[in-house]
Amino acid sequence: MKLFIDTAITEEIREAASYGIISGVTTNPSLLAKSGRKLEDVIEEITTLVNGPISAEVTEADADTMYNQAKQIVKEINNENITIKLPMTIDGIKVCKKLSSEGIKTNVTLIFSVPQAILAMEAGATFISPFMGRMDDRYDSHDAGYNLIEEIDEVRRIYGYKSKIIAASIRNVEHVKEAALAGADIATIPFKVIKQMYEHPLTTSGLATFKKDAEGK
Ligand code: G3P
Repeated sequence: MKLFIDTAITEEIREAASYGIISGVTTNPSLLAKSGRKLEDVIEEITTLVNGPISAEVTEADADTMYNQAKQIVKEINNENITIKLPMTIDGIKVCKKLSSEGIKTNVTLIFSVPQAILAMEAGATFISPFMGRMDDRYDSHDAGYNLIEEIDEVRRIYGYKSKIIAASIRNVEHVKEAALAGADIATIPFKVIKQMYEHPLTTSGLATFKKDAEGK
């Protein structure tokens, strides 16, 4: 499973990129607001940090304006990794179809059901983003997000859809494991959780023992 970082804070992206395991970046308007910067400036900088798909989300709701906004982002940034993130709405899916037919990478976000995933895959989305954490919250369950991804993956297999599944709304390392087991191609992960993935108490205590033994204490 490929690992993307889910943030618009470029310091976090720079640090995670230095670990050598990051293949792409996703942002959204809430993450962008936290960075306090303009979308184009942030995305432009990210293109210098990571060589892989970089999702920039549109904010317009109506299909024509959304399409124009998407084209403007693509034109301004002018980088083949730019991926237009679109909402799971009738307008978003219309724009997905249009951009996909023009060869522009797309990521349909806020997917919470298999029928929604089918719509996005039929529209030729490059990526689809089911939200694990918010699914678990909504159904007060530990496996709602897992089940959603597993079912989308099964439908994708039966019908041969080419869209890649990005497990989004990852809140902890357990979600990373579930995304991988459920068949996600990619998990997009907050910086804090990426760092937690390296940790295990037995790794820490094992290292301490090795160090002590190596020093002959
Ligand atoms: O990738 C989508 C993600 O940013 C949403 O995460 O934690 O706000 O549900 P969360």
